[in-house]
Amino acid sequence: MKADLFIDNIEELVPVVGKGPLSGKGQSIPAVIKGGAVAISGDRIIAAGGRDSVLKKAEITDGTLVIDASGKTVIPGFVDPHTHLLYGGCRHWEFEERLKGTTYLEILKKGGGINDTVRATRNESDEKLLDGLMKRLRILLKLGTTSLEIKTGYGLSFQEELRLLKIIKRAKARSIQDVAITLLGAHALPPEYRDRRENYIQIMAGEMLDATRGFVDFVDVFQDVGAFTYEEARKILKRAAELGYGLKLHADELSSSRGAELAGELGAVSADHLTHPSEKGLELMKKSGTVAVLLPGTTFFLGSGQYAPARKFIDMGIPVALATDHNPGTCPIYSMAEIIGLSVRFLGLTPYEALVASTLNAAHAIKMGEKIGSIEPGKQADLLILDAHSYVHIPYEFGRNLVETVIKRGKIVWSTDYPA
Ligand code: NIG
Ligand code: FE
Repeated sequence: MKADLFIDNIEELVPVVGKGPLSGKGQSIPAVIKGGAVAISGDRIIAAGGRDSVLKKAEITDGTLVIDASGKTVIPGFVDPHTHLLYGGCRHWEFEERLKGTTYLEILKKGGGINDTVRATRNESDEKLLDGLMKRLRILLKLGTTSLEIKTGYGLSFQEELRLLKIIKRAKARSIQDVAITLLGAHALPPEYRDRRENYIQIMAGEMLDATRGFVDFVDVFQDVGAFTYEEARKILKRAAELGYGLKLHADELSSSRGAELAGELGAVSADHLTHPSEKGLELMKKSGTVAVLLPGTTFFLGSGQYAPARKFIDMGIPVALATDHNPGTCPIYSMAEIIGLSVRFLGLTPYEALVASTLNAAHAIKMGEKIGSIEPGKQADLLILDAHSYVHIPYEFGRNLVETVIKRGKIVWSTDYPA
């Protein structure tokens, strides 16, 4: 088959191949190719592997664009499966407050935190919110994030959550990245409902889910102290499952609050945060094949020191993914490479486990694993050329953006030679 794009002489090619999400040894044992190549036709990968084997399957013609990747590493595009990317305002004042010792929960209880961003978001026009979101998507692209999930959660009323969903939908239509959309109407109890919690749950489990069918991929709930209880989350998520939504859960972030349990029980696609999961929760997650999405940037930024027990997940054979959790309160980090850096230092993941967690497993955490997340024939050609001779440089050169070229659907969409 004729190649439109041929990436040649790759010093280290890391294809991250796997059927389904990788777990246990599958996630741990590195598989890298020295002296590799990748051939692309249209938006698809036609061959990837050792240079000679790729040349047998792909034909190079005068029309083929050949990129010499000597001294470079090629990996799948990063997938960020947990972001709160759409919001107005910022919370640097809260950051300063927390640096002085006030806790996240204390700020949340005083009406700050999430509710502060809700006020700022409600006060911003659709156009301004869309511009802000598009800007963030461009920042992510240059950092190598070629697909991601975006949650609502700063509208917190039927109308406002719907408005945010429509803005995400418009951004998705314009963005270069593949986007999964998550409804997080149950992110915090809005102050208007302080004395009628059940009413809010009723709306979120009822008319909200009815109205968003068809263009929302996932429904998520923040189940924790200061947010929603096990029973409340269960009510919303059970109905969401009945209507055919994929399920996600902010689980056991601030306390052990039966989040992993509920995720496993309902067969959620992912359970996220998991800094305090119960044994029972882990068993149930393992049984249901739920992906553990870990967010070390949040623990780092909150300064709590409570990192998720990542090694336990790997030992139990639960697939581990990583995400930024980008949001204006607990983690304003954009870079998946930085998350990989934090994960090897604080979660105890190896660089290879962390790479799998940021590509193939992250793709499975947003049900895109059949299409993206690895470099193998038939898959969409989403990949990164890194200015490094090994993927280990991602956490090693912590803080430097190694991404030299971003290829999305077979096209160069950003490169240090030709910035878009
Ligand atoms: O994932 N935990 C809940 N949601 C976010 C925080 C959002 C915020 O503080 O604005 C999180 O950490
Ligand atoms: Fe989050």
